Amino acid sequence: TFVTFAWMIATRAARDDPRDSRPLDVVAAAIIVDGRVLLAQRSRPAELAGRWELPGGRVESGETHAAALTREIREELGAEVEPAESVGSPVALPGGLTLYAYVARLRSGTPTALEHLDVRWFSADELRLFDAAEIVPADRDWIPDLCAVLDGT
Ligand code: CDP
Repeated sequence: TFVTFAWMIATRAARDDPRDSRPLDVVAAAIIVDGRVLLAQRSRPAELAGRWELPGGRVESGETHAAALTREIREELGAEVEPAESVGSPVALPGGLTLYAYVARLRSGTPTALEHLDVRWFSADELRLFDAAEIVPADRDWIPDLCAVLDGT
């Protein structure tokens, strides 16, 4: 139908590469150890470089959110995690993408900045004082949710 066709055009136009048929989901991990959450400092693109985020990335075709999160953390931080409950509400990103956050339990390895500029552990008090301008825009809304999770640990 026309509606389906228009939707396909709109969805495809929202992607960088029109042949990109991956899902439009992005997953991010709140790795929490000893009452602190790990944030990673982006190295790219230029407009986000230097800003802090929950590490993660695009879900690939046929992948569950949990599998994508585990893969991304292995690739980006060299650590093994087990995804658990969701954090906050999903956030709409430019390009039709939707960003989801999950608590991720650290199973093994030491999270290391393999693709980021740096990684750092933040307590709830540090997060509350953290300058929002230093956090990637999409992740800012999650600060109260992350503090609530940390306060409960
Ligand atoms: O490397 P990959 O394409 O899998 O993922 P990415 O570039 O890290 O993330 C895909 C999109 O989600 C980008 O637009 C990121 O800016 C965004 N993102 C975000 O806003 N907050 C996060 N915690 C993770 C990703």
